[in-house]
Amino acid sequence: MRHFLDLSSAGPDGIAAILADALDRKAARAGWPKGRADADAPLAGHTLALVFEKSSTRTRVSFDMAMRQLGGSALVLDAGTTQLGRGETVADTARVLSGYCDAIMIRTDDHAKLEEMAHHATVPVINGLTDQSHPCQIMADLLTILESGKALPGLKVAWLGDGNNVLASIVEAAGLMHFDVVAACAQGFQPSDEDMARGQGRARCVASPAEAVEGADIVVTDTWISMGQLHAETKLAALAPYQVDAALMARAKPDAKFLHCLPAHRGEEVTAEVIDGPQSLIWREAENRLHAQKSILRWCFGQVG
Ligand code: CP
Ligand code: NVA
Repeated sequence: MRHFLDLSSAGPDGIAAILADALDRKAARAGWPKGRADADAPLAGHTLALVFEKSSTRTRVSFDMAMRQLGGSALVLDAGTTQLGRGETVADTARVLSGYCDAIMIRTDDHAKLEEMAHHATVPVINGLTDQSHPCQIMADLLTILESGKALPGLKVAWLGDGNNVLASIVEAAGLMHFDVVAACAQGFQPSDEDMARGQGRARCVASPAEAVEGADIVVTDTWISMGQLHAETKLAALAPYQVDAALMARAKPDAKFLHCLPAHRGEEVTAEVIDGPQSLIWREAENRLHAQKSILRWCFGQVG
């Protein structure tokens, strides 16, 4: 059984195989209508359950469309309208969904719930974001970086702002794929030692945003208030010096690219000038959720890697 719970679930070889497959499949259907199935329809007859305990636009639509393009189908289950939202256990939900569907994606708060789902499911389980990590997002980010003509080994990625779930997965990717992450996060909002350890020595924290972006190939940030967190003025104030603006981008390499998983808050973590500017790859990054996840799904079914 192949669960995609974090990037380490696939490991370096699996990640490389997923990225190569995604590049091939994306090229093979360039210009096609989005809803047309790929010529080989490799997941024909397969259904994916998409369980959401938190909001989503990209993850929800890209997984649904991924299954359509692979020749299968998806069911979107908002937890609030299922018995999960009324206290049915994750374990029982896992057993029941395994009887109807061929794979389960879950977006939830506590990472332990994802692990419990995987423990009790008899079909592959995919992490669609937890408070701890967001590996599908980072697969799309790696695909976007490769498409921009940059190789992963030796790359310098700068992270600004909140030490959150998205940073945790970038750090994990750095350790597995041999690139470096330099994070400048506000006091009190730094990543945990455990998250940093997943970088296997490739990730470090610095105090100054300028130092983090100096010579960076990729500059990344994310919302300052993640889902499930209170909208705290104190947090916004603490993070204000970490905003990615044009002056900060100018300290990175001249050909540096800007990434953001979205949704974004222009004027908070990033200025409109940067996120809507020429160095920003955000729309390609968002589209690549679809292409990366098709290959993650194929990896789960043993078709890749
Ligand atoms: N980046 C991301 O996961 O977006 P959604 O919350 O819209 O799914
Ligand atoms: N860090 C953000 C990512 C949203 C895709 C959150 O968890 O809300």
